[in-house]
Order: sequence, then C-alpha cells, then structure tokens
Amino acid sequence: MSKVITTNTALLILAASLMPAITSAFGEQASYPNGFHNGGTGNCDGCHAGRPPSVLRNTSSAAKGVTAATVVQRQSMLNGSDPSSTCLICHSAPVGQKQPSGFLIASSRESLATGVQPPSQLTPGGDFGWLLKTYKWSSKGGGVNDSLSPGDSHGHNIVAQDYGFNADMINAVAPGGTYPSDRLSCISCHDPHGNYRRSAAGTIGLTGMPIKSSGSYGDSADPDSAGTVGTYRLLAGAGYQPTSLTGDFAFKADPPAAVSPAIYNRAETSSDTRVAYGKGMTEWCRNCHVTTHKNAHPMGSAGRLTTEVIRIYNHYLTSGNRSGSKDSAYNSLVPYEMGSDDYSVLKATANSNGSVRSGPQNGANVMCLSCHRAHASGWDHMTRWNLRNGIIVNEGTFVGTDSKSPVSSTAAQGRHSLETGKAYYDRKPGSFAVFQRSMCSKCHEKD
Ligand code: HEC
Ligand code: HEC
Ligand code: HEC
Ligand code: HEC
Ligand code: HEC
Ligand code: HEC
Repeated sequence: MSKVITTNTALLILAASLMPAITSAFGEQASYPNGFHNGGTGNCDGCHAGRPPSVLRNTSSAAKGVTAATVVQRQSMLNGSDPSSTCLICHSAPVGQKQPSGFLIASSRESLATGVQPPSQLTPGGDFGWLLKTYKWSSKGGGVNDSLSPGDSHGHNIVAQDYGFNADMINAVAPGGTYPSDRLSCISCHDPHGNYRRSAAGTIGLTGMPIKSSGSYGDSADPDSAGTVGTYRLLAGAGYQPTSLTGDFAFKADPPAAVSPAIYNRAETSSDTRVAYGKGMTEWCRNCHVTTHKNAHPMGSAGRLTTEVIRIYNHYLTSGNRSGSKDSAYNSLVPYEMGSDDYSVLKATANSNGSVRSGPQNGANVMCLSCHRAHASGWDHMTRWNLRNGIIVNEGTFVGTDSKSPVSSTAAQGRHSLETGKAYYDRKPGSFAVFQRSMCSKCHEKD
C-alpha cells in the first residue's frame, strides 16, 4: 500500500514539475483539442463575457441596468479591451515562450523587452512581435546612429491595448487606400464570427449550408452537399466590414483560394513550410490597398510568370548557384500563386515535410505575398527578406551586429545575427550562398 502511495506521490511531483513546460509549449492546443473556431463561429464565451448586464464594463447605461441594444452589449462584452486584445488572449504567446507553437501569432511584449530576444513564432503570416522591435544603426559603421527601422514599419499595426500594440505612427490610413490605421485590428481582415464559407460549388458567401469545419488545411474536410467549410484563415469576403466601423470600407473581393499544411508554425531549418497559394491574394489585399504599386511590378492575374521567369525560378538555388531543378525548386521565402482554385491540387501541394518541392508551372503568378508577409516580418514594410539592404548572408554567416566584419555589421541594420536568422525562419545560413544577395533573384537572376 505504502509503495503505491509513494509511486503516486512521485508521479504527482513529476507531473507538477512538468506542468510549466507543458503549459507553455502546448497549453493552448491542450485546451482546445477539438478546435475553437472550426472554420466558423466559436463558442460565444471564448470572446464575449457571459456576464449579466449589471457587470458590463465600459457601459454606464448597462451598469445602471438599462438594456442596451444587443449590438452595443455584445461589443462592450468582449473579453479584452478591444477586438484584437480579445483574439490575443488565446493567440499571444505566453511570456518566455521560445518555441513556435500551434496557432500563436504574437510574442509577448515582456518576452521581447530584454536582450537579444527575437519574436519566436514562425507562422506563414509572421509574428506581430516584430512591431515591438525598433532598430537603430550607423550607416557609416560605428559612430553615431543615423538610420532607423521603426517597429511600426514591420507589419500591420493591429491596435491591441492590452498587449502593447498601438496604431501606426507613420501611416494614418492604408497606403493606396482609405482604411483608417487607428481601426486596424484582427477583425479588419478576419471575420470574428467566421461567417464566410466555401461551398462544394466553390462559391464563397455568407449564406448556404452550415459550416462543418475549417477549410484551411491539407487535411480539412471538403465541402459537400451536407455542409460548407470556412474560408481560408477565416478571412472576410465581399461586403464585409466590422460592425463597429462607421463609413464605407466594405470589401469588394472574396478571400483567396489557398491551403496551409496542418503543421504551419515551425522552424524551416530542415524543410520549408509550404502554403499552397492558389488564386486571389493580390485582389484580396486590394480591398484596402486599392492603388498600391499600380503600374509598378506585375502581380495578381496580370502578373503571370513568363516562361523565362519560370525557368529562372526552377534553376536558381542561391546567389550564383543555378543548378536547381523544377522538382525541388520551391522556396517559401519567395512563394507564388499556382493560378488555380482547384482544392485537390492545392491540398496535394501544401506540406511542411518537404514532400512536394516542385517549382512553378505555366499559369503561376506573382502576388503580394511573393514579397510581403501578411502580419509582420523582421524588415521594413514587412517584406519577406530585407529589401532595404540586399545582403542576407556574408562570409557564410547571417549578417548581425555581433559580427566582426564591418560589411556584416553595417548590413545588419541594428539586428543581432540571431534576429536575422529568426527573420529567415531559422534556416541554416549554409542553405544560402556564402555571399547571399536579395531574393528578387529567385525570379530574376540572369545567367
Ligand atoms: C472569436 C471571437 C468571437 C466569438 C467566438 C464570437 N464573437 Fe461576437 N464579436 C466578436 C467581436 C470582436 C465583435 C466586435 C465586432 C466589432 O467591433 O465590429 C463581436 C460582435 C458581436 C455582436 C455585435 C454585432 C456584430 O456582429 O458585430 C454580436 C451580436 C455578437 N458578437 C454575438 C456573438 C454570439 C451570439 C456569439 C456566439 C454564437 C459570438 N458573438 C461569438 C468576437 C467574437
Ligand atoms: C478562446 C480562444 C480563442 C480566441 C479568443 C480566438 N481564437 Fe482563433 N483560434 C483558437 C484555436 C484553438 C485555433 C486553432 C483551432 C481552430 O481553428 O479552431 C484558432 C485558430 C484561428 C485561426 C485559423 C483558423 C483556420 O481555420 O484557418 C484564425 C484565422 C484565428 N484563430 C483568428 C482569430 C481571431 C481573429 C480572433 C479574435 C476575433 C480569435 N482567433 C480568437 C482559439 C481562439
Ligand atoms: C491585414 C490583414 C490581417 C490582419 C490585420 C490580421 N490577419 Fe491574420 N492572417 C491574414 C492572412 C492573409 C493570413 C494568411 C497568411 C498566409 O497564409 O500567408 C493570416 C493568417 C492568420 C493565422 C494563421 C497563422 C499564420 O500566421 O499564417 C492566424 C492564427 C491569424 N491570422 C490570426 C490573426 C490574429 C489573432 C490577428 C490580430 C492579432 C490577425 N490575424 C490580424 C490577414 C490578417
Ligand atoms: C482591412 C484593410 C487591409 C487589408 C485587407 C490589408 N491591409 Fe495592408 N495595411 C492596412 C493599413 C490600415 C495599413 C497602414 C497601417 C500599418 O502599416 O500598420 C497597412 C499597411 C500595409 C503595409 C505597409 C506596412 C508599413 O508600415 O510599411 C504593407 C506592406 C501592407 N499593408 C501589405 C498588405 C498585404 C500584402 C495585404 C494582403 C495580405 C494587406 N496589406 C491587406 C490595411 C489593410
Ligand atoms: C515584387 C515584390 C512586391 C510585390 C509583389 C508587392 N510589393 Fe509591396 N513593396 C515592395 C517593396 C520592395 C516595397 C518597399 C519599397 C517601396 O516603397 O516601393 C513595398 C512597399 C509596400 C507598401 C508600403 C508603401 C508605402 O507607401 O509605405 C505597401 C502598403 C505595399 N508594399 C503593399 C503591397 C500590396 C498590397 C501588394 C499586393 C497588391 C504588394 N505590396 C506587392 C515589393 C512588393
Ligand atoms: C515570384 C517571381 C518574382 C519575384 C519574387 C519578383 N519578380 Fe520581378 N517580375 C516577375 C515577373 C513575372 C515579371 C514580368 C515579366 C518580366 O518582366 O520578366 C517581373 C518584372 C519585373 C520588372 C520589370 C517591370 C516591368 O514593369 O516590366 C522589374 C524591374 C522587376 N520585376 C523587379 C523585381 C524586384 C526588384 C523584385 C524584388 C523586390 C522582384 N522583381 C521580385 C516576377 C518576380
């Protein structure tokens, strides 16, 4: 008997000692083994306080017991101070989190406050924590800092009061459009109630058969006669604007066709995380960036890869190395759209174990995410690689302020080599050339 108790006690102690590790690395997934949104509207309580009107925050009328309109009630009943803070209750990484994990998309402010601590989450969209990192450096090497890469320019500044994210200081509205920056939040792009759905016929809308699951993944169910699936990443479609946003900012374009691998938040040290982008991302971004890059670089349906660009992409491996082949040419730093909304093709392509590495074929096109990330990146204008200084790797190591080489430490633009490496999703420096230059070359390097 006493032996059993001892064993149990030992197990309990063991369990207790493992708890913090388990909670920090897997707590979020463990809490939602069966999903939360599941492609549609999650449990109301996850975002709205299920409290009686008398304890509503921020509504004096409600506090007096006056029943306000459901709309006003529900808005003031969010679990966070604002919409983005409500999402980040589940989507922000716990303090000290160092490994990428599940659906976490923002490192905490506290984690980034001390020393060289790059944002830790490595999803395709990118970690919003980069918005909290401002870099200063001297363009002449040493001496007085004369150059700046403000945190605000590293991504979409989602206003989230509880997590230290403020409105963009530089852009008052979306460049090339009118969407107000002080109202930019998660629900500017994602429908919090996940009402947009994709049917078996491929149409996207607000009505129709109920949503049976997420439609974002390689292993998601297909829509059929009994049910629809959620749009890619719960992105909002035509006609959408948050209820609380006054003025006319309604989306004109539906969400893109795309498929993410089931495991998408990971270091790309040994293989790429390949989202199969199909069609419509550029048009969707243009819901807010109507005239951005107009008449500049070709993109979207007008940005088909030419035969020559396809040839270059498929041969280019790294600066100066064009020994690649079309079966293994894909690089997630430079994605393109396949030009297809055939989900059987997209699902067969999305992976994160290196199973499909084929490069572009006829019909593929350039899109906004060929050069930018959707949430944030380590670089100005949330580009996927540093476009303000083309040098990625110098003398075989990521450029960094810690380098003894003056070329590297100036090219680093204030970033430590650990931050540079993280901004390239923990790829090995050796996966690039010894002197690696801008990734525009993936589509353009001449023989
Ligand atoms: C993932 C988070 C989330 C979930 C789950 C959620 N809501 Fe909401 N809801 C929000 C946010 C954020 C807003 C604020 C929208 C705005 O500011 O325009 C909102 C607003 C509302 C509104 C105001 C009108 C509108 O559509 O904006 C109502 C009513 C509402 N929610 C009801 C519900 C009900 C009922 C459920 C459960 C069936 C639910 N919500 C589930 C996040 C959520
Ligand atoms: C109560 C916790 C919780 C809250 C609050 C929450 N989420 Fe999530 N979210 C999850 C979980 C769990 C997943 C992964 C499983 C799933 O998709 O259901 C997820 C997944 C997602 C995905 C990927 C879904 C897909 O199908 O591709 C998006 C996008 C997302 N959340 C956006 C939001 C936004 C925007 C808000 C705020 C309006 C929000 N979430 C609030 C728990 C939450
Ligand atoms: C400007 C539009 C926009 C805003 C604002 C935005 N998202 Fe996203 N989000 C996207 C797009 C587009 C994707 C798909 C990215 C991809 O696959 O490359 C995405 C992807 C995601 C994913 C899947 C993981 C990933 O990063 O690829 C989650 C979870 C998510 N968003 C949650 C959020 C939350 C929570 C917020 C607010 C803190 C937010 N998003 C704000 C557009 C946005
Ligand atoms: C709901 C409106 C909305 C959508 C949709 C949207 N954006 Fe934005 N975007 C904004 C706003 C507002 C700003 C200015 C505020 C900021 O930079 O944080 C902005 C800023 C930017 C910037 C400049 C960042 C900087 O500070 O230099 C880039 C790049 C960008 N968006 C790219 C995209 C891409 C790519 C997509 C599609 C994946 C997209 N946007 C979709 C509203 C939107
Ligand atoms: C071929 C690469 C490429 C593509 C494709 C691309 N961009 Fe850019 N984008 C850049 C570069 C480089 C910059 C920074 C230099 C500049 O301002 O032109 C930039 C800057 C921006 C800015 C900041 C401009 C400002 O005035 O602050 C926004 C916003 C933006 N891009 C949005 C988009 C959107 C939206 C799309 C798709 C409709 C897109 N980009 C497609 C390369 C690209
Ligand atoms: C995914 C492939 C891809 C990427 C990445 C890419 N381009 Fe292009 N680019 C194209 C295609 C396709 C064209 C149109 C056909 C052509 O001119 O060869 C083009 C055309 C151009 C042109 C000629 C512009 C015109 O209007 O005729 C320039 C200049 C250019 N790209 C520069 C860049 C720069 C700089 C970058 C990096 C910021 C970049 N490209 C990234 C595919 C790409």
